Amino acid sequence: MPGMILQLSRRLFRAAPVLSRSVHSGTRPASKTRTECLLTSEDIYAREDKYGAHNYHPLPVALERGEGIYVWDVEGNRYYDFLSAYSAVNQGHCHPKILAALTAQASKLTLTSRAFYNDVLGAYEEYVTNLFGYDKVLPMNTGVEGGETACKLARKWAYNVKGVPKNKAKIIFASGNFWGRTLAAISSSTDPSSYEGFGPYMPGFELVPFDDIPALEKALQDPHVAAFMVEPIQGEAGVVVPEQGYLTQVRELCTKYNVLWIADEVQTGLARTGRRLAVDHEEVRPDLVILGKALSGGVYPVSAVLCDDEIMLTIRPGEHGSTYGGNPLGCRVAIAALEVIEEEKLAKNAEKMGKLLRAELRKLPKDIVTTVRGKGLLNAVVIKETKDYDAWKVCLRLRDNGLLAKPTHGDIIRLAPPLIIREHEVQECVDIIQRTIMSF
Ligand SMILES: Cc1ncc(COP(=O)(O)O)c(C=O)c1O
Repeated sequence: MPGMILQLSRRLFRAAPVLSRSVHSGTRPASKTRTECLLTSEDIYAREDKYGAHNYHPLPVALERGEGIYVWDVEGNRYYDFLSAYSAVNQGHCHPKILAALTAQASKLTLTSRAFYNDVLGAYEEYVTNLFGYDKVLPMNTGVEGGETACKLARKWAYNVKGVPKNKAKIIFASGNFWGRTLAAISSSTDPSSYEGFGPYMPGFELVPFDDIPALEKALQDPHVAAFMVEPIQGEAGVVVPEQGYLTQVRELCTKYNVLWIADEVQTGLARTGRRLAVDHEEVRPDLVILGKALSGGVYPVSAVLCDDEIMLTIRPGEHGSTYGGNPLGCRVAIAALEVIEEEKLAKNAEKMGKLLRAELRKLPKDIVTTVRGKGLLNAVVIKETKDYDAWKVCLRLRDNGLLAKPTHGDIIRLAPPLIIREHEVQECVDIIQRTIMSF
């Protein structure tokens, strides 16, 4: 592309971007020099469009830097990040403690595979099991691998412990669930854009409506049921919060019918909803907990399944694993990411800031914002669609006003900033949202 070189050289002399304010103590990145502005946002969209698969539809903004609750685009514009990489960046972008752990370990030992022991895995396993109160952890990388691992553990337990006949084990899911994009994950999906065109699907998966205890009880009576896997709040479905008491009843029913309860806390866990785990709101203990996303504070894929020996030890050497799962780099990062959540009391802050955010959002005109819901800092607003605006258009205008959020299902906008956000910043964001909504 000869024209590209000429275009790039012209762009060397665009306006210098604004200087950032440091949000974590002890860090202050140098401002960008003019010569570092090589590509415009438009160039970046075009390049991804040309060379990348079209499996996403990003909001048009091209980011190049993040710090705390802020991200900056290539032109130097600053935005509040109200998505937090789908709750992976609970601790804030580029948290210095997590980065220090990453860089220190990266220059020492990054990957051994599980063919050998390493000196970090055990330290992480001890820390994470003590923190969450389970006998053991199985480390993986992405959230969907965590879900896959939990399903495999449940099937093994069903055959070895519960006595389900070979290949008859069933796992029940809730309609509206989302746990990733593998063939197993989409086999339980009720969203056609996830599953359509990818069949045949995984057998042994069944669905019940979310937040429907009678339907769940009916399904659990089948003696072949190994597990019920559910998100305590359905994130991708649009932050769907069940009735108070649902999780308690799920626990009681799973115990009654000798079925494992798998809580998918990949999005809701790690302080996002105002507790360390979302199940802590009802003080109930699932048999298996899946963690991911913020387990690394957004710097590296780390996921985990926690459960007790009766379940975990049904999988023996050679029966499950991952080359990268449990690598020293990921383990060091995960310890640091968890320590930040505890040391900075992020659950408490999420609870407090979430209450403030929802109270302010509820003052928005009801003819545009019909619903405000959520827990902690996992929130959503429902936008009434008209011929003039929809959730996508609202998000574009929020971007123009300095706040990034992403629509889901056409009419829902999730509002989930990093959990380090402070009161005056929430207030500033509410002003942006209010100004944006009022402009329609
Ligand atoms: C509840 C839940 N589980 C699992 C996943 C999958 O995680 P990953 O994208 O890291 O595979 C997601 C992703 O959004 C999720 O929200």
